[in-house]
This record gives sequence, structure tokens and C-alpha cells, in this order.
Amino acid sequence: MPRLIIDTDPGIDDAFALALAARSPECDLVAVTTVHGNVGLDLTTRNALKVLKLVDREDVPVGRGAARPLVYPTAVEKTAVHGGDGLSGQAALLADRERGVEPEGAVALMARLIRESDEPVTLVPIGPLTNVAALLAAHPEAADGIDRLVVMGGGLTGGNVNAAAEFNVWADPEAAYRVLVEEDIPTTLVPIDLTYQCAVDADWLARLAAAGPLGAALEPMTGVYRAAYAKILGYDGTVIHDAVAVAEAIFPGTLKTKRVPLTVDTAFSPRRGGTLADLRLNAEPTPGFRLVNVAMETDVPAFTDLMLRRLS
Ligand code: BDR
Ligand code: CA
Repeated sequence: MPRLIIDTDPGIDDAFALALAARSPECDLVAVTTVHGNVGLDLTTRNALKVLKLVDREDVPVGRGAARPLVYPTAVEKTAVHGGDGLSGQAALLADRERGVEPEGAVALMARLIRESDEPVTLVPIGPLTNVAALLAAHPEAADGIDRLVVMGGGLTGGNVNAAAEFNVWADPEAAYRVLVEEDIPTTLVPIDLTYQCAVDADWLARLAAAGPLGAALEPMTGVYRAAYAKILGYDGTVIHDAVAVAEAIFPGTLKTKRVPLTVDTAFSPRRGGTLADLRLNAEPTPGFRLVNVAMETDVPAFTDLMLRRLS
């Protein structure tokens, strides 16, 4: 059974992804670690605890991680997309978890749990890659205890923050370069090209709201986020990016991947924070690129049905 550590910046789609993992008996959710991103670290940490309370998981340790990118501060916080509280204004309605954060913090918690685990751990970063880069810098031996990284991030044909950059890579390009290009842990990258294909519509959201207490709590969290995505999608619906990556981590092989050389642009140019995949037939990695398994397609109805079942 996959043993997951989810590194997250909740965030609405992060909340859906955490709920999926927490409600899936096919995986062991070993820990959740928090990072700056969709909102500041205090709020992402509070939201992670509240979401775990919602799914009745007092047992999962939570480690508080990095409050800012490794090197350069991020220019803007994306509060417009997830609401000022990160959960479309719903956070105040959610109960706090009795068990707070672990005293040791995200990086030490990850390092210890990986070291103590009998089985390799799947690390699932669904926010900026700051904590993961810090883990691999401070505890290089941790790489031996990680069977793979399943990373939500990047874009093959462009970004969502700007023309080039997807949010999680844009929010800490140096960390993304370290993790995606300089390390050699087997990595599956779940880019926005695929997550957009897995968008859910108003009918799916109505079924979620009617599916039971968890769905009824999660559906209103999509409010601000859904309005932002309705403009992008051109219809009433939303995109639960992070849940696509977590589904792959729980059920390896759910996503069809292509092994391609990939890099991250860290230059100060309009392409900063962009991912560049070498999609030429049988391309070999050139310096500054690494072979990464990029998720290209999946059975979309099977994914959206899985989400409805698990969040019911
Ligand atoms: C990613 O950015 C965040 O807004 C989402 O939570 C997701 O992790 C999508 O680009
Ligand atoms: Ca996220």
C-alpha cells in the first residue's frame, strides 16, 4: 500500500486532494506538511488542520514548513483565486483540530518519518516545492527512502499565472529546479494540461453537495475558486488540480505518462517559472534537463467518479 506524505498549501483543490487521500483505504497517509503558496503559511497550516478535522483524521501528523520561497520572495499572493482565507471564505465555519502541528516542523518531520519507515514513501508535493528542496538539501539520505515524487505542477503548453508559468513552479522556481531537474528520484509530474482535462462541472458539484456531510462542506469551498475558473473554462465548473496528482499517488498508473527531458526556467525573463519539456521523439536529456514522467492523459470519468465516491 502506498505510504504518502502530502506537502500542501490549502487552497481549495488541496483540500479536495487531502480529503481524497484521507478517505482512501488504499493508501497510508503518513503525514501532511504545509508550505506557503495559495495563501500565507499561517493560513495554509490552519486550513490543513481544519480539513483533516473535517475528514476525522486526528491521527495524521502535520508539520509546518516554509513561509517563503528559498531565494527570491514571491511577487504576488494569489488570494483572488482561493479567497483571502484560502478556502473561499469557508475556513471560519470549519472546526479546529484538537491535535495541532508537530513541534519539529515539516522538513524534520518528513526526514524522520522517511527514515523510520519500513517501506519507501511516496512524496506528493501539491504546492510550491520549497519544503521538498529544503528536505533534499538538508537530508540527502532521505532520497533513498522515497520511491517516487508525484508533483502537481508545470505546464507543457504554457502557464496559469502568466503565459509561461504554472503557479506551483512560479511560486519557487529555484526549489522546483532543485527537485525536478537536479535530483534523481523517479518523478511523475502532473501538469495543468492534464488537470484542466479533469475539470468538474456544475452538475458534478451539485452531486457532491448532495452526497453527504463531507461533500456538503467541500462544495461551498469552491465558491471564489469556481467563479475564477468559470471565467477561464467558459462554463460553470472548476479544476481540482491537486486531486489528480493524489489519485495517481494512491493508484499508481492511473495517469498515462510520457518520459521526457524537462527543465525549469529560473532566469529573470517573461518565462521565469515555466517548465520546458523536450517533446521531440526519443529526445535524450541535454545538460540542464532531466528525464521526468509527465502525465499526459487519464480516464476522466473514472477520476471524477472516484472523487464523488470518496468525498461522499
Ligand atoms: C496549483 O496552484 C494552486 O493554485 C493549486 O492549489 C494547485 O496546486 C495549480 O496551478
Ligand atoms: Ca496546491
